[in-house]
Amino acid sequence: MFARSAARSLTSQSRLFSTTAARLTKVAVLGAGGGIGQPLSLLLKSDPLVTSLSLYDIRGAPGVAADVSHVDTGSEVNGYAADKLDEALEGVEVVVIPAGVPRKMTRDDLFNTNASIVRDLASAIGRVAPSAHVLVISNPVNSTVPIVASTLAKAGVYNPARVFGVTTLDVVRAARFTAGIAGVSPAEAPITVVGGHSGATIVPLLSQSTHGKGIKGEVYDKLVHRIQFGGDEVVKAKDGAGSATLSMAYAGAKFTNALLRGLNGEKGVVTPTFVESPLYKDQGIDFFSSNVELGVNGVEKIHPLGQLSAEEEKLMEACLPELKKNIEKGRAFVESS
Ligand code: NAI
Repeated sequence: MFARSAARSLTSQSRLFSTTAARLTKVAVLGAGGGIGQPLSLLLKSDPLVTSLSLYDIRGAPGVAADVSHVDTGSEVNGYAADKLDEALEGVEVVVIPAGVPRKMTRDDLFNTNASIVRDLASAIGRVAPSAHVLVISNPVNSTVPIVASTLAKAGVYNPARVFGVTTLDVVRAARFTAGIAGVSPAEAPITVVGGHSGATIVPLLSQSTHGKGIKGEVYDKLVHRIQFGGDEVVKAKDGAGSATLSMAYAGAKFTNALLRGLNGEKGVVTPTFVESPLYKDQGIDFFSSNVELGVNGVEKIHPLGQLSAEEEKLMEACLPELKKNIEKGRAFVESS
């Protein structure tokens, strides 16, 4: 599609990727044949910070790999069929997981299927690539991240600085929707989104944004609802045939690039992500999404939430009990398996 130098200038314009000094980074996509996996693999192929791409799925990954491998960027691409998971994970530093089934109704309805898929993939990561950074896209993220953490802990290789729930789509939607109301470019309206990644657990901190803080009343309520339930718009428009795939692939590639920049030593890479967090541990909530600085070790620093408005305090009251239940469900699944 475009050469590495061209990719640099194009992607810096589009703000999807930015780059620092070159370093060898092997990235695996588990679930690469799916609705998210395919465009995500393509976008990662276009990221100059990815030097090797390992595409795995129980269906179709070698075909996706052959296709994507013709793109004229520097990275090498390999595809792995169902029985080649261990080979796909060899030497991998970053594993992105969009494997599973997409939701038809709520994110929770896919728990049973996706919980086992994610647990089995995490167990293979623990065995073959125990020091990899694991980026979980598979829903319900509020439960699948604790599943990955508990599975790696069972294997004795869990490092909380290396397990991330990808909540970037909420951040992308918040900027896009807020910018639409404020009449500015989304790049000028970044919004910190905290909490978890489903419905009421998604808490946008509009009061901390230059263009969000003036939004009040009914417009505010509708905006918050749209950010929390934006995924439903896509599920409905696709007539139950799937959920967000293209915007999710964009968000997944954007978060992966942020992590790679941090791993490369770039300073000041800060973005919301769902990680093991001290912020609400005293309330029994071990995982939480807030602004996180990404660095050479993965999670470098977890930022506090800062000042919340009265409306945001109320949103947090709705978020916390639900998030706690989702996390406990994930943990209990691993304990009982
Ligand atoms: P899809 O059904 O199109 O693709 C899923 C892929 O996973 C398929 O190719 C399937 O063969 C593969 N797969 C199933 N079991 C596997 C296993 N054991 N190992 C490797 N691959 C396996 O689904 P789609 O639309 O790509 O969604 C994937 C996941 O991402 C879903 O759980 C969905 O809910 C979630 N999602 C997360 C979002 C987020 O913001 N974090 C946003 C949108 C979707």
